[in-house]
Amino acid sequence: MQTERTLVLVKPDGVQRGLVGEVIGRLERRGLHLAGLKLMRISKDLAQRHYAEHEGKTFFDGLVSFITSSPVVAMVWEGPGVVGMVRTTMGVTNPVDAAPGTIRGDLALSLGMNVIHGSDSPRRAEEEVALFFEPGELVFWDSTSAAWLA
Ligand code: RTP
Ligand code: MG
Repeated sequence: MQTERTLVLVKPDGVQRGLVGEVIGRLERRGLHLAGLKLMRISKDLAQRHYAEHEGKTFFDGLVSFITSSPVVAMVWEGPGVVGMVRTTMGVTNPVDAAPGTIRGDLALSLGMNVIHGSDSPRRAEEEVALFFEPGELVFWDSTSAAWLA
């Protein structure tokens, strides 16, 4: 399967509840490689661009307001089929319906405060990684030498 990259956010609720290590640990133990990582406050402009697909929906303003309300941890994870794998590891959008064993199914109850974001397609992943990270902020995992390259 082709190596991909995806954008993961630990949302404000996850950071405030001290779940950053838990989310990173689950993805690390799965065997994925971390290619970028930063703690940041999302601006209103970035939030509106990141969630542009939801513009006009009833929950859009609340979503932008929540994601900009306090710092998030933004990450790029790399691995074969990583976009879909992160989505299944996250669980479905509403934590009430998320399967036990998933991040949302184990750690959340609220649709708005559902701990984690993950890109929903390889095309969106490329766009979202470029929205959140400069190329120089990312490293590359070289599987032939089992090492990261700057
Ligand atoms: P995310 O983009 O945050 O990773 O979540 P997702 O793909 O699982 O869900 P998506 O449909 O993209 O929705 C983005 C976030 O908006 C909130 N939401 N509220 N009130 C509602 O009907 C509603 N629907 C979605 C959720 O917090 C969701 O994560
Ligand atoms: Mg989404």
